[in-house]
Amino acid sequence: MQPILLGVNIDHAATLRQARGVDYPDLREIARLAEEAGAAGITIHLREDRRHIQDADVYTLRKTLTTRMNLEMANNPDVLRVALDVVPDEVCLVPERRQELTTEGGLDAAGQLDALRPTVQALAAQGTHVSLFIAPDRRQLEAAAALGVPYVELHTGAYANATGDERKRELDALFAAAEIGQTLGLRVNAGHGLTMANVRALLPIPNLDTLNIGHSIVAHALTVGMKQAVADMLAAIAR
Ligand code: PXP
Repeated sequence: MQPILLGVNIDHAATLRQARGVDYPDLREIARLAEEAGAAGITIHLREDRRHIQDADVYTLRKTLTTRMNLEMANNPDVLRVALDVVPDEVCLVPERRQELTTEGGLDAAGQLDALRPTVQALAAQGTHVSLFIAPDRRQLEAAAALGVPYVELHTGAYANATGDERKRELDALFAAAEIGQTLGLRVNAGHGLTMANVRALLPIPNLDTLNIGHSIVAHALTVGMKQAVADMLAAIAR
């Protein structure tokens, strides 16, 4: 089996920065450390409300990333303009609702074929690999194949949030969707809500390409980095 690649989503490093309106943490540095640690790509979500990643981040990171840039975006003309200007390696089209805490459901690709087609075509024409963030559902996979995208990203949020029998059902749905994806010629990524504890059950999915993981990695970085950060501040105030 091929190794599974890791795309590191750094949105929540930007959340911390935006909470204070300051210029740290430096996303270029966060991305560089993730790349140095072995990330195959860096994922950022330019939301319509610009709550974390800003337009300037997309332009800056495009210059500094040494791996692949995966830009998550809604099918929105304003954000599409940025994507057409920056030419990310990958774009993952996601649904967006302003009030949500995070991307809470999959894209209804089957219900929006006509709206998605021009966006997919414009991105593909510039060489960007397009992915659709969808629930593990046959109709959505068939819609992705009909749109001619090379990738889908299976939404693992329902699996991550479920417990007991329901979790088993959600896991089965992800395995089945990955298999359907393969028969349709789609490459299969997955992500959302994944942690070191819940990710293991996904590893046997044979054709899993990339896992995109953000929140739990940024949270874990605070824990594993706290000792050094405090030691550095103590050194800064020593006299
Ligand atoms: N994949 C997609 C398409 C997402 O929208 C997100 C959240 O921005 C993620 C992966 C990462 O999710 P998490 O931050 O829960 O790891």
